[in-house]
Amino acid sequence: MPALTEALSGVIRGGNYVLGPQVSAFEREFADYLGVAHCVGVANGTDAITIALRALGVEAGDEVVCPSFTFYATVEAVVNAGATPVYCDIDSETFCVTAETVRAAITPRTKAVVPVHLFGNLAPVPELRELGLPVLEDSAQAAGATLDGERAGAMGHAATFSFFPSKNLPCLGDGGAIVTDDDDVARRARRLRFHGSDDKATFLEVGYNSRLDELQAAALRILLPELDGWNAARRAAAAAYERAGLGNHVALPLAAVGSQPVHHLYVVRHDKADELAAALAARGIGARGYYRVPAHRQPATACFAPAGLHLPGTEEAARTHLALPMGTALSGDAVREVVDACASGPA
Ligand SMILES: Cc1ncc(COP(=O)(O)O)c(C=O)c1O
Repeated sequence: MPALTEALSGVIRGGNYVLGPQVSAFEREFADYLGVAHCVGVANGTDAITIALRALGVEAGDEVVCPSFTFYATVEAVVNAGATPVYCDIDSETFCVTAETVRAAITPRTKAVVPVHLFGNLAPVPELRELGLPVLEDSAQAAGATLDGERAGAMGHAATFSFFPSKNLPCLGDGGAIVTDDDDVARRARRLRFHGSDDKATFLEVGYNSRLDELQAAALRILLPELDGWNAARRAAAAAYERAGLGNHVALPLAAVGSQPVHHLYVVRHDKADELAAALAARGIGARGYYRVPAHRQPATACFAPAGLHLPGTEEAARTHLALPMGTALSGDAVREVVDACASGPA
């Protein structure tokens, strides 16, 4: 992509590599794209969650409700903010938390809720806001998705993004962002990403070295205008799977009502998911389950699960989910090949 090469060369020529004009411009452009007041670029999507939680006022000993069925980093970031993750269940058909599953996990010590827009599907953030707690949307997998016309990331009190190269809006390494309409949350996030300092001379609180660099921001400014087109291509691939009859062989992804998901991953459900994956692999088709062992059963984070924790939606999703090939350039032939292979089923 010549525009990308030119933008990166411009940064190298300019000699300004960290938190410079490219970062400021990207922060403005991404905030405008989402329809929020502030964007704070940080080093990755995991730091973004930790910093955003602290900026929202979460402190040591507070509880934060989050799903166990997510990429492990969601839970890790809660712990790194000093808080205790309280696992809530998900709807095994949408893969997202619901107002009911979150409500069931709230206690007097709950300080915030972190719904995850998993696989590019939308969690019901407007309903979650009615629970009366700060909502931090983990939008790492949902850049560009909308719910009733509002973008993922623009519905909660704050939201976080990852720009890891596999994400819908990628950069060329690690990158992340916190977005919010709240001036105070944005100010505190800016301070925390730079060692807890506003002026690089006085250090007001212990923070982080978590900055987006200029090369990544320059790349993101070139790629952001492509995001909607890429997401449309992913939705077209999902529609092609449906037209080709995939739903006769596996349970198709269920989008939230009123949403435009962005299919970061195209995740179906099947009772013998791993056997189906093996059958697809035998035909050269890559398919896999991402979160077979959810966070409440991972060695590092099982300690946060109370004895007898019952998360039936999580267990069902963990057992049955299977990500099929998805991308911005999935051909009709590839779609037919996957559907044929699913039709043949597990060996
Ligand atoms: C749901 C979710 N949350 C958080 C993260 C963490 O992002 P990063 O890898 O940029 O730290 C990811 C990245 O894979 C993710 O998928």
